[in-house]
Amino acid sequence: MSHPHPLSPSRWSAWLLALLVAIGAACAQAPAEHPAAGTGSPAAAAPTKREPANVMPWEKADWLEREGRAENEKPELVIQAMDLKPGMAVAEIGAGTGFFSRRIAKVVGPAGKVYAEDIQPQMLDLLKQYTAKEGVGNVIPVLGTETDPKLPAHGVDRVLLVDVYHEFQKPEPMLAAIRDCLAPGGTVILVEYRLEGDTAAHINIKHRMSVEQVLSEWTAAGFTLVRRSEDLPSQHVFIFSARRGARPPA
Ligand SMILES: C[S@@+](CC[C@H](N)C(=O)[O-])C[C@H]1O[C@@H](n2cnc3c(N)ncnc32)[C@H](O)[C@@H]1O
Repeated sequence: MSHPHPLSPSRWSAWLLALLVAIGAACAQAPAEHPAAGTGSPAAAAPTKREPANVMPWEKADWLEREGRAENEKPELVIQAMDLKPGMAVAEIGAGTGFFSRRIAKVVGPAGKVYAEDIQPQMLDLLKQYTAKEGVGNVIPVLGTETDPKLPAHGVDRVLLVDVYHEFQKPEPMLAAIRDCLAPGGTVILVEYRLEGDTAAHINIKHRMSVEQVLSEWTAAGFTLVRRSEDLPSQHVFIFSARRGARPPA
């Protein structure tokens, strides 16, 4: 009785065939990998464009007026950083229920005004209820769009954006419009939950931003960083001015 030799041609071909079938099966089962996922190639290292977060629905507006927010987030430090004066015209973009607009209105006083802008009419209805209840008379609700906050050209001394920029679905036209509404010497105060570290770990990661993300996008849009503060417990504060003569890319 003859036994096939371990390296006989017939044994080799059977072994090779089994190997090829196994490799084919493994390839077929491997999950499709994202082209930029950790291959170590230059393409993998290239920064990816930031995806905007979803707009916070007005049905969840209670969260903006939640108990303990003022104690935890220290809005008085934001107001201080804004360097407000009585009589100033201020715009809050993405004002929501007016948690900040109402506080600003008290500082700029009856000679000043606050344009409280949002894209959800229901948010503005809630804002009107809060301002009426608190007897705040100098808040002007403004219904804007995803590309136009509908603010007076060169008519605003301070623009405040708290926890909203990362929700802009179309940031470029919004940044151009913000530049256009600033009065000479006007500044923008931008507040975003920190992506770095864990001080904002209670906030969904899609609603947090890094210093690098903010600076790259705002600098490219023609803004200059005047100052950055890390005094808030969980949020970055950026103060920007518009670069004279600079226009955002078309
Ligand atoms: C998370 S809430 C913050 C509200 C407010 N700034 C605060 O801190 O209490 C975000 C708000 O921004 C508004 N928003 C989102 N995208 C906007 C845009 N492109 N222009 C104006 N408002 C916008 C939403 O409708 C929502 O009211």
